[in-house]
Amino acid sequence: MSNASSSERKKVTTRTFHEKKQSGEPITMLTAYDYGTALAVDRAGIDSILVGDSLGMVVLGYENTLPVTMEDMLHHCKAVRRGAQYALLIGDMPFMSYQVSVEEAVRNAGRFLQEAGMDAVKLEGGQERAQAVSAIVSAGIPVMGHLGLTPQSVHALGGFRAQATASGPAVKLFEDAEALEQAGCFALVLEAIPAQLAGLVSEQLSIPTIGIGAGPDCDGQVLVTHDLLGLFDRFTPKFVKQYADLHGVMGDAFEGFKADVEARTFPAGEHSIQMSEQNWRALQDWFKGQG
Ligand code: KIV
Repeated sequence: MSNASSSERKKVTTRTFHEKKQSGEPITMLTAYDYGTALAVDRAGIDSILVGDSLGMVVLGYENTLPVTMEDMLHHCKAVRRGAQYALLIGDMPFMSYQVSVEEAVRNAGRFLQEAGMDAVKLEGGQERAQAVSAIVSAGIPVMGHLGLTPQSVHALGGFRAQATASGPAVKLFEDAEALEQAGCFALVLEAIPAQLAGLVSEQLSIPTIGIGAGPDCDGQVLVTHDLLGLFDRFTPKFVKQYADLHGVMGDAFEGFKADVEARTFPAGEHSIQMSEQNWRALQDWFKGQG
């Protein structure tokens, strides 16, 4: 649905997610953190934009997502809001914005909608977050859950690694997924877990699952846009399909600019502003008069 005509396009809502789950139509989601990327993702007809706290790593250059603040998130969510017209916009609640108390969780979730124009929020964790999810949903704010590799718990998990590969942790993840559905989540991200487990969870839940490194049987798929575009050069997880090498494209463009400037071939005539002959003569006459 590339550049779909705006007359037939409708704003994607959580209801659209539900309908797609019912009809078996895959849900598409990408991350964005700025106006231009949001515009391109939205124009490509992607169902949903996640302003992920992956922002911290791929845009702000941190080692992990832990340093990302509410203010960082809101700043980037506002830019994405200005670029996207149709996609369902989901703001990722940063580390420590929902863990301390249910009240803080509701207040911070509200800021994503009230100040940044998001349509929904996402938070990480299972049964231990059910109370916060339920309170946020009661305030009229749609919540997407996130299970499996939950990057805000990178230290507790011992690194960025696949999760729930053994049967015990797989059962725990399944129970967490059920708890989040019961608490009112409208969708669930499943990250870096075995494809079989993701398939089972997707089959059993009535809310859609959005996979990232969770195999083909999820109800939708999400990727970090910088990974997909080849813009994040530190590492590329095994589950990423890279559709472009924009880092290489950028490098070539920057080297081209440097070479042109050094060879004085940029700017050329077509890049320059010319004064009319008459005005130029007048300026020269004035200048001569000064001496
Ligand atoms: O922050 C993020 O981009 C995410 C996705 C990986 C789902 O949480």
